[in-house]
Amino acid sequence: MTIRPLQKVDFPDVIQLYKNCFPKTLMAIIGPQVIQKFLEWCLQKNHYFFVAYIKNQPVGFVSGYYYMKGEPFIHSTSELALFLRKDLINSLLKQPWKVFHPTVVKKILKHVKHQNSNVVGENDIAVSSELSILSIGVSPNFQRQGIAEKLTQFVTSFALEKSITHLKLTVETNNKAGLNFYSKNGWSNLLITKDYIVKHKYLTNE
Ligand SMILES: CC(C)(COP(=O)(O)OP(=O)(O)OC[C@H]1O[C@@H](n2cnc3c(N)ncnc32)[C@H](O)[C@@H]1OP(=O)(O)O)[C@@H](O)C(=O)NCCC(=O)NCCS
Repeated sequence: MTIRPLQKVDFPDVIQLYKNCFPKTLMAIIGPQVIQKFLEWCLQKNHYFFVAYIKNQPVGFVSGYYYMKGEPFIHSTSELALFLRKDLINSLLKQPWKVFHPTVVKKILKHVKHQNSNVVGENDIAVSSELSILSIGVSPNFQRQGIAEKLTQFVTSFALEKSITHLKLTVETNNKAGLNFYSKNGWSNLLITKDYIVKHKYLTNE
């Protein structure tokens, strides 16, 4: 297995891989145009997207972002929503019936609530360096073969190269595979809510 950074030429294969790994997410429901926009977001500065290949076939990926102490903090939820907004609206205008899909309704309501709560500031500065895993997925046919473990090890080395020793991620409380995976790999709970758990991990250089 090889792991390498996403390139634009990989987009068609990786869009399909994303749909296989996350068939029920908003982006998979709305369509490839939005997944492609997400991939473009992942190629921005301070973001990463690594793809695992077996015999030239993409079988898994891990994506996220990082910031260094004293640098602008990345508000992934609001920044990604803003980045995707135009393409989301355009895609929905072309297929308006999808507005009534339960996942789409839930996400729109959440976005409105988040915007009104105004919790995040635009110019916040990070008080410590941190790397977040935004999503990790392995193609169903290749699961439970240690691919996600290898992908997270790859991200760990990537973080350590940048002297980042604190990793974070969010997992939904109903994601049994994800919860088991993170427990098995030494992640601990930082925040528990009804819908999701924020997990974190401190790295050492050993
Ligand atoms: C979570 C996920 C990334 C794990 O990938 P993976 O390559 O199968 O994981 P690994 O082989 O490295 O690790 C296997 C461990 O993960 C957990 N796990 C994986 N799939 C599981 C499942 N279906 N049910 C319960 N636990 C599971 C177990 O702890 C398992 O260890 P075990 O086989 O000894 O029981 C994969 O199931 C997936 O892509 N799920 C869909 C997308 C997703 O939910 N991503 C995580 C949230 S962002």
